[in-house]
Amino acid sequence: MIFYFSGTGNSAWCAKQLAHLMDDQAYDITTLTEIPDIQNAKQIGFVFPVYAWGTPAPMTEFAKKLEHIKTFTFGVCTCGSESGKTMQHFSKIYPLDSSYSLVMPNNYIIGADIENENVILEKIDIARKELKKISQEILQHKRGYHVLEGSWAKLKSNLVNVGFNTFARSTKPFWTTAACNQCGICAANCPAFAITLSEKGPIWKKTCFQCMRCLNACPNQAIQYGKSTEGKGRYIIQHYLPSDEY
Ligand SMILES: Cc1cc2nc3c(=O)[nH]c(=O)nc-3n(C[C@H](O)[C@H](O)[C@H](O)COP(=O)(O)O)c2cc1C
Repeated sequence: MIFYFSGTGNSAWCAKQLAHLMDDQAYDITTLTEIPDIQNAKQIGFVFPVYAWGTPAPMTEFAKKLEHIKTFTFGVCTCGSESGKTMQHFSKIYPLDSSYSLVMPNNYIIGADIENENVILEKIDIARKELKKISQEILQHKRGYHVLEGSWAKLKSNLVNVGFNTFARSTKPFWTTAACNQCGICAANCPAFAITLSEKGPIWKKTCFQCMRCLNACPNQAIQYGKSTEGKGRYIIQHYLPSDEY
């Protein structure tokens, strides 16, 4: 059984690929109405993006609630470049037998612009191959820690991550340009249920997960975050996958 959280599709794609390769099921934790019965699970897995060298809040909350049973457990975090101590910290909440990080296209356009198409396609291609290897190791219940932590991992996953969760999840900087046609896609798809639609366009609650889905998936590229996203590209994995892939 694989539980995933995903903003722009990378982690959803990884979870679904793994489920397919391992003949297992992948569940989006933000749309679950109740936690499925895990008693007979051959393995329990968690797949999620790295947010400021840590685990996204909804995945932490979900893992805290999930019963601990005697079965093989694994976690895969997806990141643009490095994941710090994310998996070690997550393992304190839900102990993992094996942990992996997978480098995927970067979706944090508040920071850097999206990568060029060749880089994006190459990252996805490498991940596709890695997932085959990972699925084999999980099926063999191989224990291991295959995580690219990067430099200053402790500092980033402690201090910087706390700073992110305390200060950087404000929705105040979100605004829409004249291109917004009030289609409501952002409100309908927000995994934090943080957006409502008014006659003038979307209105955000005070804070959200900062998953970047509203910004990246707006069909009119009408959503901005302060000045930092103006003139930048938008990323969702669906634009780069063959139509027959999950
Ligand atoms: C709020 C936020 C913070 C991020 N922090 C990191 C980070 O610390 N390290 C990193 O390598 N990538 C970071 N990223 C990039 C994502 O982890 C990466 O693009 C991930 O694969 C996105 O997965 P998703 O499409 O399932 O949402 C961050 C992205 C967001 C939205």
